[in-house]
Amino acid sequence: MKIGIIGAGFVGRAIAKLAIRSGHQVMLSNSRGPQTLFSLGPMIGCETGTATDAARFGDMVIIAVPLTAIGQLPKEPLQGKQVIDAVNYYPDRDGIVEVLEARQTTTSELLASYLPAAKITKAFNAIPMTQLESDGLPSGSPERRALPLAGDDAQGKDIASSLYEAFGFDALDAGPLAEGWRFERGMPAYCVRMTKDQLKTALNSAERR
Ligand SMILES: NC(=O)c1ccc[n+]([C@@H]2O[C@H](COP(=O)([O-])OP(=O)(O)OC[C@H]3O[C@@H](n4cnc5c(N)ncnc54)[C@H](OP(=O)(O)O)[C@@H]3O)[C@@H](O)[C@H]2O)c1
Repeated sequence: MKIGIIGAGFVGRAIAKLAIRSGHQVMLSNSRGPQTLFSLGPMIGCETGTATDAARFGDMVIIAVPLTAIGQLPKEPLQGKQVIDAVNYYPDRDGIVEVLEARQTTTSELLASYLPAAKITKAFNAIPMTQLESDGLPSGSPERRALPLAGDDAQGKDIASSLYEAFGFDALDAGPLAEGWRFERGMPAYCVRMTKDQLKTALNSAERR
């Protein structure tokens, strides 16, 4: 699969490395342009481009930018695309977003409201990237870590699940995109090592206060 990644920080780089190891083609991009990713391309084995290039390149596009940057994403090339949303909300970095503080919406629904024609699946949010690179285990390992996803598009969920699987994790579907709050920052399932059964319990025990 061709995977475009918008954001070439911790998340973009970690997913790019793992995806290339799993046989995918990747294009990484950032806000400053491919000239600032000059050595990264050959180091990771990916292509580099602008955010628009990455959005056009990908059969699937991963959004790996700070929440404050979602309003600058290239809308037109993301129309109709499968999009994975790895974005989290950190008020110290992103400023206070009242609708999120009041739990009236979720980070992924904010992204969906900006990209209404994209098919968005929330995934890769609830694990630090150092652990995404280190914690993967073969399928069937008793201690295998599980990671949550949420979305409204069955194909998008299949793609996210197969990436989790290829990277060494069990996938757990938390429901529609609107249920993504169950693994947002501060919830029991957020960034804690859990098996699939433990994760199921953590997602069910989440309270939206
Ligand atoms: N770090 C983690 O372990 C982790 C885990 C799960 C989820 N997340 C979430 O994933 C997102 C990315 O985190 P990160 O740790 O990778 O952040 P990061 O290291 O700060 O990288 C952010 C990347 O986004 C790019 N970017 C910013 N504005 C952009 C724009 N308008 N267009 C295109 N690219 C833009 C930056 O490029 P420039 O430098 O050129 O501006 C940079 O490459 C955040 O929402 C974070 O909360 C992080």
